[in-house]
Amino acid sequence: MEQLMKLREQLKQCDEEILEVLLRRNSIVEEIMAYKEKNHMQIIQPEQEKKQRIWLEEQLKGHKHQKEVIAVFKEIIRNSKKIQARKLFSYNIVLIGFMGAGKTTISDYLNLLFDMEVVEMDQLIAKREGMEISDIFEVYGEEYFRNLETNLLKEIQQKKNVVISCGGGTPLRECNVKEMKKQGKVVLLTATPQTIFERVKDSHNRPLIEQNKNVEFIKELMEKRREKYEAAADIVIDTNHKSELAICEELVTKLLELDKRRAIV
Ligand code: S3P
Repeated sequence: MEQLMKLREQLKQCDEEILEVLLRRNSIVEEIMAYKEKNHMQIIQPEQEKKQRIWLEEQLKGHKHQKEVIAVFKEIIRNSKKIQARKLFSYNIVLIGFMGAGKTTISDYLNLLFDMEVVEMDQLIAKREGMEISDIFEVYGEEYFRNLETNLLKEIQQKKNVVISCGGGTPLRECNVKEMKKQGKVVLLTATPQTIFERVKDSHNRPLIEQNKNVEFIKELMEKRREKYEAAADIVIDTNHKSELAICEELVTKLLELDKRRAIV
């Protein structure tokens, strides 16, 4: 019994040490962020995460608790990303743009980089209705779908520090744009009609272009929407021929610049 008490005491000491080190680690993460920002350095450095992973695997090679320790470190890294995201963005990031502009892809990548929760509006609507978007259009009509979008946007306003990936038509309603701006900064992703065509040509869940999947039609619809897209946007990012990482770097840089500009005004 005495032995057990001693072991428990030792375990508690370990927990105290872990706690102290973890808190220190978190403040260092914040300091690194501040340093990068101050020195205008790239905020996102995925190669650093890779280096860390290789180092850890090397340290734990052949150890009987290798799997368990790696799982703990994964969680630590995940939480560091959350800390970074909270420090960078005290608001929601709302991605808008034409079909195929990259809204879903970029929100997934932001999730990977910052572990931010993503609300993919189309996916959530389809899940709740138990139907594909194209079926919702066919059975209930576009107006019904647009109302679902508006209601969902209102509901999301309770959330903070999330990425909202809108449907291509979401910013067309003025009331939707108002909702987006309540808690969020609006990021417009753009691409040329040719690029859009290449990206959407093999998918069949976009009822508005399904019967007209060609560059000319995409160009026309894009032109009709341009003014509303641009009016809604806080920042614009051209996604043509850029990697996901490059797009996210540009997004972070432009949002930080926007914060600074607004702080001055
Ligand atoms: C639409 C875009 C689609 C989807 C629906 C309507 C639009 O979303 O919401 O088909 O009006 O542009 P994606 O932009 O994600 O394809």
